[in-house]
Amino acid sequence: MKFFIDTANLHQIQQAYDLGILDGVTTNPSLMAKENIKGEKAIYQHYKTICEIVPGDVSAEVFATDYEGIIREAELLADIADNIVVKVPMIKEGIRAIRYLTNQGIRTNCTLIFSAGQAILAAKAGATYVSPFIGRIDDTNWDGMDLIEQIVNIYANYGTPTEVLAASIRNPLHIIRSFELGADVVTCPLDSILGLLKHPLTDIGLSKFLADAEKTKA
Ligand code: G3P
Repeated sequence: MKFFIDTANLHQIQQAYDLGILDGVTTNPSLMAKENIKGEKAIYQHYKTICEIVPGDVSAEVFATDYEGIIREAELLADIADNIVVKVPMIKEGIRAIRYLTNQGIRTNCTLIFSAGQAILAAKAGATYVSPFIGRIDDTNWDGMDLIEQIVNIYANYGTPTEVLAASIRNPLHIIRSFELGADVVTCPLDSILGLLKHPLTDIGLSKFLADAEKTKA
């Protein structure tokens, strides 16, 4: 049961790490753009900083969509730090690249997974992780959780080593359901992680304990 944070924001990464529950980080081009990180040098430096904060796996996504381009970028990204996992999109060239990178000992995260068929191909190519996008499936009025369940079951049938990394998490319930269904990893925004802390009865109970503690002092 592993927790990754899905952000490129260093402050949020540090906050999640300081909680003592963080196993890794995932990023994507949209999350890097949100932090206003521009240019190859700045992007690589940003990944290096993230890898220094978090010793667990850090997914860094390639921008290329052609086989040679994906390989070139993947090798550069993998050189940044030992804990870099190269994120590759679920496209034909991506699957070819994942097979090559796996053979070279470079770990990969196959992203933009929306069907069990895609997850099967990614596993066959040797991906370290597959990332089904729960929230985006929910957005289309399908249940993202059905996909998690399906992939977990298929991989279990064959003892497939590829780990199911539930992504596009939008709320604490997504986290709970993903782990309930057997996802190996859940990557989520800090808000969803912190949302797990909350329960009104905890707040009410704590207020009462604190009030009673005051009485014992008197
Ligand atoms: O992990 C993928 C994630 O960053 C996408 O999330 O909310 O844009 O679907 P979202």
